Amino acid sequence: MSERVVFEQARLVDPLAGVDEVRDVAVADGVLAAEAPADAERIDARGLILAPGLVDLHTHLREPGEEHKETVATGTRAAAAGGYTAVAAMANTDPVADNAAIVQAVRDLAAAAGSCDVFPVGAITRGLDGEALAEMGEMVEAGVRVFSDDGRSVPTARLLRNALTYAKAFPVEVVLAEHAEDASLIEGGQIHEGARSASLGLAGRPAEAEEVIVARDIAIARACGGRLHLCHLSSARAVDVVRRAKAEGVRVTAEVTPHHLVGTDDDLVTYDTNKKMNPPLRTAEDRDALRAALADGTIDAIATDHAPHAVEEKDLEFDLAPPGTIGLETALAVVLTHLVEPGVLTLLRAIETLASAPAQILGAADHGGPLEPGRPANLVVFDPGAEWTVEAPFASKARNSAFMGERLRGSVRYTMLRGAFTVADGKPTR
Ligand code: DOR
Ligand code: ZN
Repeated sequence: MSERVVFEQARLVDPLAGVDEVRDVAVADGVLAAEAPADAERIDARGLILAPGLVDLHTHLREPGEEHKETVATGTRAAAAGGYTAVAAMANTDPVADNAAIVQAVRDLAAAAGSCDVFPVGAITRGLDGEALAEMGEMVEAGVRVFSDDGRSVPTARLLRNALTYAKAFPVEVVLAEHAEDASLIEGGQIHEGARSASLGLAGRPAEAEEVIVARDIAIARACGGRLHLCHLSSARAVDVVRRAKAEGVRVTAEVTPHHLVGTDDDLVTYDTNKKMNPPLRTAEDRDALRAALADGTIDAIATDHAPHAVEEKDLEFDLAPPGTIGLETALAVVLTHLVEPGVLTLLRAIETLASAPAQILGAADHGGPLEPGRPANLVVFDPGAEWTVEAPFASKARNSAFMGERLRGSVRYTMLRGAFTVADGKPTR
């Protein structure tokens, strides 16, 4: 139901409008209103922050095929709980989202659940096999704007060049999102390759695996002019390559996850499988380079890589546990606690990287602001000081959080999707 409501004296943080100020924000008929309707519900928002709904470029919803880990309904409820109004759903489902029928099925499930807009990502190669290009044209017609073989890199430079060249020919702008880890360098690897992998006796995934794919892809994108997006950057060297490419005008964007902005490979000393992910947590120098790159615009967006796995899957010895951490319900609080409070990011830059920039990369014009009269009321209201502990149960079906047990500050009070509450008084409404 679309509400008639006014958030009184909220701190409106709206990067695209360049606004950070305290004011009343009114919503009616699904859009932002210039004035509060006389019969509007009044919500005291003093001390709360009102921002564009967050947008996640990198969510694994697991449906179809792995509904024991997550479903579109539970994943989008987790998204709403975390303040998100739109997520891009990765293609590594079973079957793979490499055709229009699967894409449409995921979108229908999301519409039925009603918690969050879902933008399905299409596979670059058929069945993620890294050999033949998927039916990209058919998926573009079905509304897909981002393609990715996430979970692995496009294996050869030639295939990437074919995909980028093909993508460029569509009448709409299409982005290729790359999971940058060279397969030949990471085979069997469990965590970042370095002193820590040696001391723990775990096989390593070297930072160079990321650097070589980032450099390769940028060279190809420079030559053929397609739009490249780099997923979950994790290393200082890769960041340097991206910084130089942007200075040269190459059309490349990049994301980083909350866990790579906070964690390091020293966190693996307890063999906590919730901290096993691809790419892996690296060194403090890498983490600090990622923070600096996010602050200076080299990295455009924060993306969760929400990767739900079942308890019995993560509860195995380290080598056998699947990689990934959930992230939708903790991203905002992790960013506020670990980046905004210490002054690494301003609040305006944090919201830009969590909402406005990802919306633009995704081509989600109704999301990410600006929150101006007449625009869709896709927004989040949160209490920046509210402290809580990361613990189950989550709105997500999974509980494999890399931040489990941590105290964080920043709690979502309301999320609105087109003027309807998906979270009210801190609880998902559906
Ligand atoms: O940690 C990860 N988990 N990295 C990936 O690239 C894939 C993801 C998953 O699907 O679980
Ligand atoms: Zn990935």
